Amino acid sequence: MHKLYVNPLPVRIWHWANAFGFVLLIATGVQMRYLDLIQVVPFRTAVVAHNWIGFVLIANFFLWLGFYLFTDKIKVYHPELSPTKYFRASFRQLQFYGYGIFKGHPNPHHMNAYRKFNALQSMSYQIIMLLVVPLQFFTGVLLWDVAHFSSMVETLGGVRVVNTVHVLIFIFFTGFIFIHSYLASLSHTPWGHFKAMITGYEEVDDEPAQ
Ligand code: HEM
Repeated sequence: MHKLYVNPLPVRIWHWANAFGFVLLIATGVQMRYLDLIQVVPFRTAVVAHNWIGFVLIANFFLWLGFYLFTDKIKVYHPELSPTKYFRASFRQLQFYGYGIFKGHPNPHHMNAYRKFNALQSMSYQIIMLLVVPLQFFTGVLLWDVAHFSSMVETLGGVRVVNTVHVLIFIFFTGFIFIHSYLASLSHTPWGHFKAMITGYEEVDDEPAQ
């Protein structure tokens, strides 16, 4: 077993601020939408908190984006360009999560500083960070000041459409946090990946001698 530095400080700061912020956004969002069911804080407080946290997370997103765009660590997100290799690796990873892990088989993905994600992670993190998260921020900003952005809102089909997209993505992220946390617990110990997101260092198996 040896240690590998895989999560630089900006990524760790971005990640935990983002995770904490998303949980608060979900909690305040639920409070705003289901006021008749739950009343933990007053409606007005939930709205103000939701808006502030949203803007802090938008700024935080640029920490993640800026870090990857201006360092060579962007390589961890480079996609596998051969579809055959990509689908084989994804299938092997799915087999491992669905069956191999329960039989004690080794993880088919071997991490290094520039290949920290397996095929499923690299694809899903890219879609989430470059499409779903920005779309959620965008619809959130439109809903924050519907009057100011009325022409954009109308172009997109009206406030109901924008709101529906925002709520569907909120439902997606609520599920994502559970699945993501479960998958993050599948290191050699349940806390391995969590520790790595705190210290920066992942503990990885030594490669068998060639
Ligand atoms: C309670 C909430 C969360 C927990 C406990 C958690 C946990 C973790 C852990 C342990 C890792 C490192 C292992 C891995 O790469 O899978 C990780 C990475 C990651 N998480 Fe989370 N996470 C949470 C919320 C979120 C949310 C809300 C998002 C996105 C909206 C997110 C996006 C990511 C991304 C993109 C990475 C890879 C980061 C990088 O290295 O560039 N996480 N998470």
